Amino acid sequence: MIGINLNFNFRVNDVLNKRPFFLFFSIVLVAGIFPACSRNFKAVLPVQSTPQPNHSDPFQQNRRLGRGINLGNALDAPHEGDWGVVLQADYFRLIKDAGFSSVRIPIRWSAHAGTNPPYTIDPVFFARVDWAVHQALTRNLAAVIDVHHYQELMQNPAANRARFLALWKQIANRYKNYPSGLLFEILNEPNGRLTPELWNGLLKEALAVIRASNPGRTVVIGTAEWGGISALNKLQIPPAEQNAVVTVHYYNPFHFTHQGAEWVAGSDAWLGTTWRGTPEEKTAVIRDLDHAAEWGRVHNRPIFLGEFGAYHKADIVSRTLWTRFVARQAEAENMSWAYWEFCSGFGIYDPVKKEWRAPLLYALIPE
Ligand code: BGC
Repeated sequence: MIGINLNFNFRVNDVLNKRPFFLFFSIVLVAGIFPACSRNFKAVLPVQSTPQPNHSDPFQQNRRLGRGINLGNALDAPHEGDWGVVLQADYFRLIKDAGFSSVRIPIRWSAHAGTNPPYTIDPVFFARVDWAVHQALTRNLAAVIDVHHYQELMQNPAANRARFLALWKQIANRYKNYPSGLLFEILNEPNGRLTPELWNGLLKEALAVIRASNPGRTVVIGTAEWGGISALNKLQIPPAEQNAVVTVHYYNPFHFTHQGAEWVAGSDAWLGTTWRGTPEEKTAVIRDLDHAAEWGRVHNRPIFLGEFGAYHKADIVSRTLWTRFVARQAEAENMSWAYWEFCSGFGIYDPVKKEWRAPLLYALIPE
């Protein structure tokens, strides 16, 4: 586990320093593709008129997540398009047709909400999230929505606590009658001053807020210290909470997966790092994922590998071998997974050529 700790420490400054690295994509993509069709999807969405059952089985829900993909760098950018990705209806169709069963939709709510009580979320942004959720659910893709890149909360948890809870109150209320295929992930990669201890307290408060309007919703709860497997041992979920999936992220070996990543200082020095599936390389992955799976068995919680991926600057053979091995190993451990990510720097789809990067797609979905 030491390896994981080290690796995640390298990420401390990463997201803060992230730059829009495929800016030109946004110029190509932004124009004219904001959907005019959300009304149509609302019409066919199977929104429940009766309250949800008190408990869905989180293990069953986790199987439903199955093989998923992160729609990263879109709604988690400061503004959609800033990082080169604007979601399109066709992306959801492609993802479904390729054989995925879920999408994780990272969302930077904190950039679209008031900074004073009642911290109102911008209605236009809310409608855009509605659209994305409808795109997924109407195609029978389960959808995980999270709170992503809330940097201010990581830097000053006390000052942002009320705002964070107010965001969840609004989100939970808005989607309280949505079908069980919509899952709420409380917070992406708690880190910085949001220590494991503070995170345990905050997640309990957020759960109470969510449960007030969504007694039957499956929630997804991640670990502190950037979502790493090594922080599982510090995670405390109230024992009474029986509808939770636990999520971890996996980017090891970090020097391989994040070589040349613009938002990770010093990562150019790692360019050329390969992963060829030597016995030692495989053993390390098996050991790490088994640690997560074992934690799940001991605590009787299903595990969702909510992010894993290798940046495009690694060679494609290594990326393919690593991606396939991690995905199959996660499946062997009964984990659901979501690859990071669809069409940006780690992407398995080329939005300019409008085609899948076939080796990576088949690594994820072989049959
Ligand atoms: C972050 C992304 C980042 C990825 C890989 C995610 O959790 O939100 O910004 O690209 O991890 O580092």
